[in-house]
Amino acid sequence: MRPQLPPEQLSMMIMGYCFTQAIACAAHLEIADQLASGPRTAVELAELTRCSTAHLRRLMRVLCDIGLFEEKDSRYNLTPAAEYLRKDSEGTLWPLAAFHGDEMYRAFGGLLDNVRSGGAAWEAITGAPVWQHLLEHPDRGAIFDRMMRLNHRHDVQAMVQAYDFSAVRVAVDIGGGDGSLLQEILTTHASLSGILFDTAAVVERARTSAAWRANTARCEFVSGDFFERIPAGGDLYILRHVLHDWDDSQCADLLGRCRQAMTRDARLLVIESMPDAGQDDVWAGISDLGVMVLGGQERTLSEYERLLGQAGYAQMRYIPCTPRFSLLEARLA
Ligand SMILES: C[S@@+](CC[C@H](N)C(=O)[O-])C[C@H]1O[C@@H](n2cnc3c(N)ncnc32)[C@H](O)[C@@H]1O
Repeated sequence: MRPQLPPEQLSMMIMGYCFTQAIACAAHLEIADQLASGPRTAVELAELTRCSTAHLRRLMRVLCDIGLFEEKDSRYNLTPAAEYLRKDSEGTLWPLAAFHGDEMYRAFGGLLDNVRSGGAAWEAITGAPVWQHLLEHPDRGAIFDRMMRLNHRHDVQAMVQAYDFSAVRVAVDIGGGDGSLLQEILTTHASLSGILFDTAAVVERARTSAAWRANTARCEFVSGDFFERIPAGGDLYILRHVLHDWDDSQCADLLGRCRQAMTRDARLLVIESMPDAGQDDVWAGISDLGVMVLGGQERTLSEYERLLGQAGYAQMRYIPCTPRFSLLEARLA
């Protein structure tokens, strides 16, 4: 049985948006970076961030109360937690705060209509489907790419170690984003080469990023629309956190395009969260709401098996990986 939810905890959850927005404000104003060079008074910080001193002081009070900053001798300073709100610190959560405090926050504001209509709140709120919005706002797209890399920094190695790449010559990462997964695969397997495939803006950002600059020799950067054409020539086609962005019929189209690119020997590798139905994991449900507002859905293993089976795949092999993520390998039927 689930533990009781005490009313105090329920109240905290109800007021959770206040914390989200206070932290998002700090991220947007880059307060942690402003304080990195040393403590500042409220007046100095307000000048640097172009804010009202009185209002900034009230915001800082809350941010100090929750342990992000501290006030000593009328000067604000960083706490160890604030390091995670610096834009470029090791393990930074800045992109998470920037993205969830803005687009995701607004999209979740449309959750009620989303649940009633069965549509996608993101599109209703921002006026465009998620990937189009991120293409039209490249600064936001770059934050999203960074967030995906950061979200997986702790499990990307486990994902690569869970799979036997020994027979793979060319791995194609479809909708591969900034390519952090492919990078890990190429680093771990020196005989392998890769193709990073995504929309033009995303691929260009990846290709010119500091993370790839030193390491592009065995990687081809190819852009396009995965609903139109997927590069041929791979013997492993990877879809990590791509299928969960789409509904069943869009997944069927995408899997059909993969099938056209694949030879009989090639394999498809799906990497997703595949929670068991009824699994007692609140993050699995929250993650599902997160993709629901984008127009997608998380699926169980049997739902993925059915989706792939209907799209012409067989010989499926389930490979558990981390508590949150699993791999599902398939071949052409
Ligand atoms: C949730 S992200 C996953 C990124 C990456 N696979 C990862 O796990 O970090 C989905 C990716 O699909 C890409 N994408 C969306 N629509 C696409 C399309 N029509 N053609 C190619 N890529 C697309 C997005 O640009 C984005 O990088």
